[in-house]
Amino acid sequence: MTMMKYKHIRQRFGKREILHDVSIELKPGQLLLLSGENGAGKSTLLRIMAGLLKPDAGEFKDDSGVEPISRGRKKLLEQVMYVHQTPYLFEGSVRKNLQFAQHKEAADKRVQLDQALEWVGLTHLKDANAKTLSGGERQRIALARALLRRPRYLLLDEPTAHLDAQSNAQIARLLGELKSRTVSMLIASHEPGHLNRLVDDECRLDQGQLRLIS
Ligand SMILES: Nc1ncnc2c1ncn2[C@@H]1O[C@H](COP(=O)(O)OP(=O)(O)OP(=O)(O)O)[C@@H](O)[C@H]1O
Ligand SMILES: [Mg+2]
Repeated sequence: MTMMKYKHIRQRFGKREILHDVSIELKPGQLLLLSGENGAGKSTLLRIMAGLLKPDAGEFKDDSGVEPISRGRKKLLEQVMYVHQTPYLFEGSVRKNLQFAQHKEAADKRVQLDQALEWVGLTHLKDANAKTLSGGERQRIALARALLRRPRYLLLDEPTAHLDAQSNAQIARLLGELKSRTVSMLIASHEPGHLNRLVDDECRLDQGQLRLIS
């Protein structure tokens, strides 16, 4: 079965070593929770795993073998999707923002886009200016993008920070559905309470080291 294994990740900023020989695995359909204090290095780790940041050291292993992260970033960017805490939306309609995430070769693009919007419950905002959306709506747009992109691995950075109970519940439901489609997810979160029933394993980043809790 396909999985992604990262090994020996190191990252230093100035004199501080934020990540000290971190290893982590992403399995199909697994939801892994990542906790750690502010500044522990969670976002840094996620960005490295998604190929967005070149680490000082580290390698990954997928179907096609072992490769240094520094050389395989293009491959990581294709397979691993990072969702920022406040997802970036550009000026223009919600629909335009979603079209951007669609695979160029996808058939029935329009139908797929409408389905993704319906899935996140935002059909009514299709033509709204994306810049005017609320935090919870932005998170749902980010998940609609993930649905359209269909990444194998999804890394979410604080997906429910500052959301109200109703939005939290909606995000949890959508994550549950992605999980049932065997998307592998890693979620950095300070307030994981509402995700409890979805979480398979939990790890914690502390002093540059990653420990599996459960
Ligand atoms: N590009 C950078 N240059 C210098 N220092 C950085 C850089 N990026 C992150 N850091 C530092 O690395 C540390 C880890 O940052 P990171 O954002 O990964 O933490 P975090 O665990 O995500 O924190 P939070 O819970 O607040 O989101 C912080 O002290 C931060 O200031
Ligand atoms: Mg962070």
